[in-house]
Amino acid sequence: MTSPPIGRVYGRRRGRTLKGKASTLYATGLNALSVVLPEPPAELNPTTLFETAKTATWIEIGFGGGEHLATQAAAHPEIGFIGCEPFINGVSSLLVLLDEQESQNVRVFSEDARLLLRALPEGSIGRAFLLFPDPWPKRRHEGRRFVNPEALDLLARALADGAELRVATDHAILQEWMPARIAKHPAFVLVDHATVRPEGWAPTRYEAKALRAGRRPIYLAYRRRSRLPEF
Ligand SMILES: C[S@@+](CC[C@H](N)C(=O)[O-])C[C@H]1O[C@@H](n2cnc3c(N)ncnc32)[C@H](O)[C@@H]1O
Repeated sequence: MTSPPIGRVYGRRRGRTLKGKASTLYATGLNALSVVLPEPPAELNPTTLFETAKTATWIEIGFGGGEHLATQAAAHPEIGFIGCEPFINGVSSLLVLLDEQESQNVRVFSEDARLLLRALPEGSIGRAFLLFPDPWPKRRHEGRRFVNPEALDLLARALADGAELRVATDHAILQEWMPARIAKHPAFVLVDHATVRPEGWAPTRYEAKALRAGRRPIYLAYRRRSRLPEF
């Protein structure tokens, strides 16, 4: 199994023509919120992205329409969020939500999340969300699934000791695939495996679709192990 080169995104980047507020905000508001990566080997210091000091930086990989990210941002104004999403219709939906709730603590990276993870300083992220990632159910596409050893290495590097990784899926293949891959990675310890969305998690559009169709998601929480030797 080979994973796609970093920077390569499969899935679509664009859907229906943007209209109204979503179109205006995408055209006028995105630049101010966009995360621009420095040329390697320089790293992106996430604490410089926000106008006021934040207690931690959390990231969401593939935020879709941004419902979850906007809810978390409103619930945690003390945290700086970076949302990764290459689908421009999803990005514009997020901008509308942030505008409506007047959140100032979210920045957007509209490319492959692995590029961002690679550019972040080691141990700089306090929490990461990967919710209902694309399942790529065909055998020949399994290398495209986000959870693979290379992406887990990047996540493990970016997450601080004790940071939480939250993962959810309703897809039968990923319900086996993701826990099996993450369990093999030495940096992660499973701390919660739920079949009902735990308190402190927020709904997502794909979760709602799954529940309407009668599928039962799983919600997994992992802790990033300490880098210090454990005695
Ligand atoms: C099935 S959707 C789920 C969206 C959202 N998390 C939800 O639960 O409603 C998966 C999302 O991941 C995004 N995605 C796919 N590959 C990605 C990557 N390499 N980096 C960031 N986002 C990615 C897709 O564009 C898509 O919007």
